[in-house]
Amino acid sequence: MTNPSLTQDELKTLVGQAALRYVRPGEIVGVGTGSTVNKFIAALASMKDQIKGAVSSSEASTERLKAIGIPVFDCNEVDELSVYVDGADEIDASGFMVKGGGAALTREKIVAAQSRLFVCIADESKLVKRLGAFPLPVEVIPMAARRIARQFEALGGRATLRLKDGAPLVTDNGQQILDVTGLRIDDPMAFEDMVNNWPGVVTVGLFAFQKAGVCLLGTHDGVRTLEY
Ligand code: A5P
Repeated sequence: MTNPSLTQDELKTLVGQAALRYVRPGEIVGVGTGSTVNKFIAALASMKDQIKGAVSSSEASTERLKAIGIPVFDCNEVDELSVYVDGADEIDASGFMVKGGGAALTREKIVAAQSRLFVCIADESKLVKRLGAFPLPVEVIPMAARRIARQFEALGGRATLRLKDGAPLVTDNGQQILDVTGLRIDDPMAFEDMVNNWPGVVTVGLFAFQKAGVCLLGTHDGVRTLEY
């Protein structure tokens, strides 16, 4: 049933709740970061006695999980996870994503790599024909930031150091973030591979190798399930 009055926040709530059907009782679930995941964490409270716990992709999500009584495990304490639930800044028709708007991309990619299924939860504004309108976040070692910015400029991009309260933002890993606009990403896997090889790059926020297996997309017609 179409409901045009649903707000973006309500669409996020819908997909956060819908993701519960992928959570397996008795298991540890991988949990991402961001405003959509916060809806998932709120919904997960209803299952907290059925799951063993969570592996989290940021200090912020860890805090929220612990606040509702869900035990948080370190990645190194667990083997493979069945499911990782996270949002995206952009997702395309192949399940490739741009992520890192919340600066948690490195840990997100680590937990995604440890998981068999990436369930992306997003409102419909995140579905794009082509990745790249959202500035691509890249976590970098600070001493390499200028050189990496020049490498993006050579590709026609423009890299800006992300700031917080007027100073360079420091990630959970003690590093910095470049946000890159003006890129043309025709082949996400080749692009991710290339940037991964630049010295000083910790993580590029292009999730091609760790793409979504499923996307729960919040629309005004309800939750659409896209499978890749
Ligand atoms: C966090 O670093 C990001 O990768 C988020 O998953 C992404 O920015 C989506 O966040 P929202 O759900 O807040 O839009």
